Amino acid sequence: MRPRVTLHMMSSIDGRIATAGWPISVDAGEAYEMLHRDLRSDAWLVGRTTMAAFADGEARPVVTDQSYPRQTWKAAGAGMAPYAIYLDRSGHLHLNRERVNGDALIAVLTTAVSDHYLAELRRDGISYIFAGEADLDLSRALHILRTEFGIETLLLEGGGAINGAFLGGDLIDEVSLLILPIADGKPDVPTTFDDNLEGARPLDFISAENLDGGILHLRYRVLSGRPGTST
Ligand SMILES: NC(=O)c1ccc[n+]([C@@H]2O[C@H](COP(=O)([O-])OP(=O)(O)OC[C@H]3O[C@@H](n4cnc5c(N)ncnc54)[C@H](OP(=O)(O)O)[C@@H]3O)[C@@H](O)[C@H]2O)c1
Repeated sequence: MRPRVTLHMMSSIDGRIATAGWPISVDAGEAYEMLHRDLRSDAWLVGRTTMAAFADGEARPVVTDQSYPRQTWKAAGAGMAPYAIYLDRSGHLHLNRERVNGDALIAVLTTAVSDHYLAELRRDGISYIFAGEADLDLSRALHILRTEFGIETLLLEGGGAINGAFLGGDLIDEVSLLILPIADGKPDVPTTFDDNLEGARPLDFISAENLDGGILHLRYRVLSGRPGTST
């Protein structure tokens, strides 16, 4: 049992997703957030790098001699959805806050993270779950989020490596993609899906909508199973 997962992203026409510095005349961020609200999910989930943009001030690490069980911990303020979830297999992210955009934070960790890091999350009121020993088992993470936090619908919001890992694991049901009228062309920047796909995947078209400023909103259903290849 896992939540229904919708990938929600915006990209240039060549699939790049690092939007900083793009010369666009409309507020693409506003269009993205409006659709985020319209998609009405119980949670949104991002990678460590993407969530780092929400850190509040400098890192304030904790040093502890306590040892914490590697079990789900729920912060007092984490009672109900929507949740803001991030993957951090090594415990590197220092957010100094318990909510982002009003949504209670949940960290998805491996059991390899330090007790110091767990003490920091407890101090900051960030709930956490464990989904793997050295690497994250994304399917297991989704199962725990569903059964222990009641999350039935989830927006996956990047970056590229994580999106690729979810799609490669057959863990995305639908894609909601804003295409901005930008040709980027930068080398070595994240794209909508980086790595981990284990072969190109066909998608089933749902809809296309023209938004203000030449932005296109495309929706696709992800087809289950792995197709044969063509040349
Ligand atoms: N246009 C959009 O809609 C949109 C949306 C989101 C983000 N962005 C942009 O995308 C950029 C960040 O993308 P990104 O791909 O570099 O970063 P990201 O996915 O947010 O985070 C990358 C980190 O995630 C961890 N990771 C990678 N693969 C993983 C896996 N399979 N399981 C668990 N953790 C994994 C790694 O960190 P560890 O080594 O610590 O595990 C990696 O350094 C930023 O510029 C951001 O603004 C754009």
